[in-house]
Amino acid sequence: SIPNVTFNNGYNVPGVGLGCWMGQQGAAEETYAMVRTALQLGYRHFDTAFGYGNEEAVGRAIRESGIPRSEIFVTTKLTNSHHASVAQGFDMSFKNLNIEYIDLYLMHWPNASDDKGSPIPYGKSPTFVETWKDMEKLLGTGKVRSLGVSNFSIKIFEELLPHATVIPVTNQVECNVYYPQHKLQEYCKSKGITITAYGPLGQYQNTFLTDPEVVKVAEKNKVTTAQIAISWLVQRGIIPVPKSSNAERLKQNITLLTLSKEDFDTIDNLHKQPGKHRSLDRFTNRVHGSIAGWTMEQMGW
Ligand code: A2P
Repeated sequence: SIPNVTFNNGYNVPGVGLGCWMGQQGAAEETYAMVRTALQLGYRHFDTAFGYGNEEAVGRAIRESGIPRSEIFVTTKLTNSHHASVAQGFDMSFKNLNIEYIDLYLMHWPNASDDKGSPIPYGKSPTFVETWKDMEKLLGTGKVRSLGVSNFSIKIFEELLPHATVIPVTNQVECNVYYPQHKLQEYCKSKGITITAYGPLGQYQNTFLTDPEVVKVAEKNKVTTAQIAISWLVQRGIIPVPKSSNAERLKQNITLLTLSKEDFDTIDNLHKQPGKHRSLDRFTNRVHGSIAGWTMEQMGW
């Protein structure tokens, strides 16, 4: 079974969750079926976002499962267009999910946009510091237990933390075999902040699942390369949130192993080889769709 991870505020989170981004907004029925299947298979941690457009389906699947609310951990995220109206943004998610309380509420990006979706330039109000101060007020409502952030670089943390009363419990970032985030993990650890990994199977760059060295380690251990990729993250103390709509793969993704030191090191060092690191061009192209207006230097990547 998968161990819990303990946050800096004492709350526990199941060490692997189900990522609920379906590759498109909405997809309510597919989301509902995925969450119901995952609950049957033993998943107790679900990661969604207002921006995924499927909070209602996630909440309904949880309620209709009949599993006690206290046994399930649910994360959702503040969308960029509601940085200037955090309480309202939170209430929309809270109503959509309809599950008594939210375990973890994340700032989805440090970037704000206006109500028409146009990006707010770096440094202009609402800044991510102002947004975080408004998020801190949510703890007093009793509707949310923990607060965190997503897509924050070390540079962004250095600007936020001097102003934070509440330290984020986690930073959810893309993290996988070809993008291991070792420096960010070390920095976050020094501040008491865990790392949650999205894209752990390479949703944005999946070539490592067929990397010959990963295949070799998988064959040796008689598991799949996905199981190697997730087990390595768990062994690092990172909380992966892989997505799968397929029962067999859902099961694989929570059937983990402990890698030998040799196998761990093989996977941990793979990104140093030529062509095995996720290129920043790719990051720029992908991310700049949603955060257009900030340079890579301003983002700190
Ligand atoms: P599917 O939903 O059909 O299983 P990530 O978690 O990095 O965002 O990646 C999600 C993608 O990886 C989805 O396309 C998902 O497809 C696929 N996937 C999930 N689990 C596995 C697995 N065990 N082996 C191979 N591909 C997987």
